[in-house]
Amino acid sequence: MKGGFSQAALLFFLPWCISGAYESRLCVTNMTPHHKEQHVVITPSANILCFGAAHFDRTLQCIGHFIPAASNPVRTLHRKPGGVARNIAVHLRLLGNNVAMLSAVGDDGDGEYVIAALSELGIDTRRMMKLEDKHTAGYTAVLDETGELALGMMDAEVYDFLTIERLAPELSNLKAWPWWMMDANLPVETISWLADNKGDTKLCAATVSPSKAVRFKPVLDKIDVLITNRAEASILTGIEIKETDQAVTAIQLLRGKGIPDVVITLGATGVVSSSQNGTAFWPPLPTKVRDVNGAGDAFYSGFLSAFSKPDATMDGAVAHGLAMASLTAETDGTTVWNLTTEAVETRAAQAEKRPLD
Ligand SMILES: Nc1ncnc2c1ncn2[C@@H]1O[C@H](COP(=O)(O)OP(=O)(O)OP(=O)(O)O)[C@@H](O)[C@H]1O
Ligand SMILES: [Mg+2]
Repeated sequence: MKGGFSQAALLFFLPWCISGAYESRLCVTNMTPHHKEQHVVITPSANILCFGAAHFDRTLQCIGHFIPAASNPVRTLHRKPGGVARNIAVHLRLLGNNVAMLSAVGDDGDGEYVIAALSELGIDTRRMMKLEDKHTAGYTAVLDETGELALGMMDAEVYDFLTIERLAPELSNLKAWPWWMMDANLPVETISWLADNKGDTKLCAATVSPSKAVRFKPVLDKIDVLITNRAEASILTGIEIKETDQAVTAIQLLRGKGIPDVVITLGATGVVSSSQNGTAFWPPLPTKVRDVNGAGDAFYSGFLSAFSKPDATMDGAVAHGLAMASLTAETDGTTVWNLTTEAVETRAAQAEKRPLD
């Protein structure tokens, strides 16, 4: 071979080149002008395309007593990008994966900021749609003077424009990604269409909230990985989940619908996992809890980062999910910016599996 790709390597890289996923990792090669005979170094890192919410979260606190239907003086506590798919994409990227994000923002400054913040991390944002005359989605929380939620407002209208018509021309490109992580902010028709057309791509579903979880109901048999909390799992199964044994009944029902790998997260109680190798309960890792906001999304990213690697196992993925949830619960906000492999691995090694069958 004369200093180039072998045919096998070319075939391996072709889907990445089509999708643009090669950007961050392919640069790490030994193909310098002086080392033309050396082989390309392949980092076995997954290529994950995240579909769903990327928006702005704002938290405001009233300076005085909250008065409805009046102008209340407030101070801004936080103003930062959020959204389930965005949260998962960011941690996946910080864990070293090749990640792209597909979402819609408005033609405004918030949208530009959201895209720039993803791009700066090395997330491929070329499938982010900037829609004219629309507003970037956002969640605004107004706290009263004691810090309790007085009013929460979610504007997610822009996601309704992630239609089949807009995505259809991109389908072959989207299918070049071996993993799709999809949150339930997409319209139900789009979710169904993508599920029907995923080809060999693995579809990983994130249910977001009880009201949005229902959007995955028509395609349960096409989902490859489902991670859902107890309230969302109840909506999908009709089973009330208070105790672990109810979560086990629900998880078996979901696997019976055709989902090979399922996790139900149970907040401070831990998680239940189920795959062809059995069902298990896992207590949470020892955690100095500071802010549990985003722990569920963090579990997802730790799980998927591990699960999408070659030779991955369900148990290894759950351990890494628990590690990320624990690290995030010890951090203010939804993102652990100073993530290290060592911190994740040390914590994952503490995970304790309790088989249930
Ligand atoms: N209080 C806690 N103490 C320890 N671990 C926790 C606690 N709360 C959550 N976790 C960890 O985070 C995981 C996910 O939490 P949870 O089930 O609340 O997800 P969620 O409802 O999707 O959260 P969110 O959507 O707010 O991110 C749990 O399985 C557990 O491992
Ligand atoms: Mg959640």
